[in-house]
Amino acid sequence: MKKLIINGIIVTAAETFSADLLIDGERIIAMGENLDPQGAEVIDAKGCYVFPGGIDPHTHLEMPFGGTVSKDDFETGTIAAAYGGTTTVIDFCLTNKGEPLQNAIDVWHKKSKDKAVIDYSFHLMISELNEAVLNQLPRVMDDEGITSFKVFMAYKNVFQADDETLFRTLVTAKELGGLVMVHAENGDVIDYLVKKALDEGKTDPIYHALTRPPEVEGEATGRAAQLTGLANSQLYVVHVSCADAVNRIVEARNKGFEVWGETCPQYLMLDKSHLEKPNFEGAKYVWSPPLRDKWHQDVLWNALKTGQLQTLGSDQCSFDFKGQKDLGKDDFSKIPNGGPMIEDRVSILFSEGVKKGRITLNQFVDIMSTRVAKLFGLYPKKGTITVGVDADLVIFDPTVERTISAKTHHMAVDYNAFEGMKVTGEAISVLSRGEFVIRDKQFVGTKGKGNYLKRAKYNEFLQEVNETLTI
Ligand code: URP
Ligand code: ZN
Ligand code: ZN
Repeated sequence: MKKLIINGIIVTAAETFSADLLIDGERIIAMGENLDPQGAEVIDAKGCYVFPGGIDPHTHLEMPFGGTVSKDDFETGTIAAAYGGTTTVIDFCLTNKGEPLQNAIDVWHKKSKDKAVIDYSFHLMISELNEAVLNQLPRVMDDEGITSFKVFMAYKNVFQADDETLFRTLVTAKELGGLVMVHAENGDVIDYLVKKALDEGKTDPIYHALTRPPEVEGEATGRAAQLTGLANSQLYVVHVSCADAVNRIVEARNKGFEVWGETCPQYLMLDKSHLEKPNFEGAKYVWSPPLRDKWHQDVLWNALKTGQLQTLGSDQCSFDFKGQKDLGKDDFSKIPNGGPMIEDRVSILFSEGVKKGRITLNQFVDIMSTRVAKLFGLYPKKGTITVGVDADLVIFDPTVERTISAKTHHMAVDYNAFEGMKVTGEAISVLSRGEFVIRDKQFVGTKGKGNYLKRAKYNEFLQEVNETLTI
């Protein structure tokens, strides 16, 4: 049956206007005032905005990490995402050195296929770039539609790749039309600082931040950006947390290098002092890169506003406080890194960004959806509202006032990093390809209904991206 959304205010990255939306099956088939219902079910969005569904470029669902596995999987994680107004996630597929890439991709398909309630895609981790890996990449891009590659510059002896691997990945991505993503922290220096701190008996969560200072993020970001320029390639820096990294990205962009950046809600809203909470509660706030001194937050908001950074990822990688984070009770370096963020990403950006005048309503849509779709080869099928595209839609009440809490969130973990924070605005109903996933704040979706998305190559969008993202 067709659906007709009436009385809503449509918001895209470019415009805000009143219009009805007619949906047939998975797509929007008409947009305009007073549309003929054609027998459609009518949905009244009076008083609400209608946004394109959020696209989260950065999740780690059911990921083995830090001696455990992140708690939210493709079921709980995507349900929570949908509650928050996100209709697509791009998750990081981890690879193992010496193993065929397809093995790793198959593992990720297996854990997502029957669970995801919204659409999803994968980035692929590159841990080595030898002839064998090189030979597999064209097929991975063409057959799997995986067109973005992640290189970790940190997590020594776990995920960390060397500079040769990073450089070869950049060169290869340029040739094949992929986008290279980096976790930019200097893993070797961090390793030294962590060992030194532990030798000195410094074991509390705060030392996580003190052994990963902004300089190590700035240095790695600058190095990756310089190598991108040398390779004439394209780079996306994930989870930018501090001014040092923003400055390196701005310098690179000013030189004409194609360097994009993402930040996350935790870096916009939380600061280093959270790691000093008593009773080991600081462990709840252990991310890499770590939370920073508060002044960095203004730099990050400004970077989103001015286009120095382009997107907001959740970096969803959730661990229970009891039973997972406490693996590091006597040693901060054993606290699993990451937190629950998939559900609150859109709300935080709206409430703290739009409502507080830090960004405009259209920038909000651009940052949480449209730019992600453009950079990662999903546009225009995803990331905008117009005739012919997927009906991934959020009916959002901008006036609802509520308090974020683990008692009411839908993520599978026992705490929320924003516990007690008051926010304005809430996703009331969410549609994924024309079907309700959330209806009147209730989950009505179906496990396994999310589709795997093959994405276009970065260079197929290059023109569009450059025209619409460069500020
Ligand atoms: O602390 C974090 N960010 N955990 C997830 C893994 C990563 O580095 O993105
Ligand atoms: Zn990372
Ligand atoms: Zn991450």
